Amino acid sequence: MKIKDVRSMKLTMQLKSRSYDIILKAGCLANLHQFTNVANRKVFVLTDSGVPAEYAQTVAAQCPDSTVYTIPRGEGSKCLKVYGQVLQAMLAFGMDRKDLLVSVGGGVVGDLGGFCSASYMRGIDFVNCPTTVLSQVDSSIGGKTAIDLGETKNIVGAFWQPKVVLVDFDTLKTLPRRQVVNGLAEALKTGIIGDPQLFALFECEHPEDNIEQIVYRSLKFKKKIVEQDEREGSIRACLNFGHTIGHGIEAVRGVRGRRTTGLYHGECVALGMLPMIEDTALLKRTRAIYRALGLPTRAGANKEKVLAYMQHDKKARGDHITVIKCPGLGCWRADSLPMTELPALLGME
Ligand SMILES: NC(=O)c1ccc[n+]([C@@H]2O[C@H](COP(=O)([O-])OP(=O)(O)OC[C@H]3O[C@@H](n4cnc5c(N)ncnc54)[C@H](O)[C@@H]3O)[C@@H](O)[C@H]2O)c1
Ligand SMILES: [Zn+2]
Repeated sequence: MKIKDVRSMKLTMQLKSRSYDIILKAGCLANLHQFTNVANRKVFVLTDSGVPAEYAQTVAAQCPDSTVYTIPRGEGSKCLKVYGQVLQAMLAFGMDRKDLLVSVGGGVVGDLGGFCSASYMRGIDFVNCPTTVLSQVDSSIGGKTAIDLGETKNIVGAFWQPKVVLVDFDTLKTLPRRQVVNGLAEALKTGIIGDPQLFALFECEHPEDNIEQIVYRSLKFKKKIVEQDEREGSIRACLNFGHTIGHGIEAVRGVRGRRTTGLYHGECVALGMLPMIEDTALLKRTRAIYRALGLPTRAGANKEKVLAYMQHDKKARGDHITVIKCPGLGCWRADSLPMTELPALLGME
């Protein structure tokens, strides 16, 4: 992927005492020491086996007293066992309350590292360095940290905001294209419900060439939402656009356990967005973007199974389920649907 040498961009998440900067710049990992104190404390750098090792080393090299801890790549590492292993390693490294954990990797390393920071000694400083498109446009900000319990995703966690987020575009040069597109699907989600200019970037011939602007605009929208609703009591739910059906498809057709044939999270969300777009012209434009990017337009999943999963979704309340719909570009609405309407939404009737 081509990365432009754009000037540094910065956003500030305004959350009173928990406010923090989000720095967006190619090469910024090498300047981590300018954005957080690494001189007088221990720095635990968490990464995974799929992230090129040089990124974590770049961070560790700036810290006089640091260690790099590498977990196996993949969602399977967001589990109690690996969580326990990381905490043990932090203890063995002699960390105390003033020390720092830095996550260098995608959403897996970010979510696990965030939760370890939130819980070790009741909370230590956390810096997030996202290295996938998905984590750069979405998971690295907002303070949601979590691990899974078996098949149940993100069920144990905490809200724990980072001290700073460093988005280094250079790290995307090593990311496989399908992973790039996976993250772009989440950015497109933001464009559809909240930012027509972001959506327009996807209608260019090569959206990836605008990756810096795509990441910036996605984070800007999410920041605005999180600032108003940090703990998802109300409007933050809009970020779940595409996710209700998407999670159902992911449960049935997701990559977990089916490494080569399964669908990625962003691909499932992309499929989940289509039935929620009410404006037919917008739906057509969205499908055209999917085709250009190589996102699926059909799930190929057993609809009965998807339906069964959705009926047991943790967001389902009794006989109703809340879904986010898009009546037109840049707009969204939360609807509480009777479960009986789900089959029609899935195109089963
Ligand atoms: N906290 C939140 O708000 C939030 C939001 C969305 C998703 N998530 C979570 O994020 C996770 C998914 O994140 P993801 O899509 O980044 O997956 P991931 O962290 O598993 O990364 C995908 C793959 O890319 C590799 N990789 C990472 N950076 C690379 C690089 N620069 N070059 C080459 N390979 C690289 C990883 O090793 C991994 O194999 C899920 O667990 C999901 O629940 C959290
Ligand atoms: Zn998502």
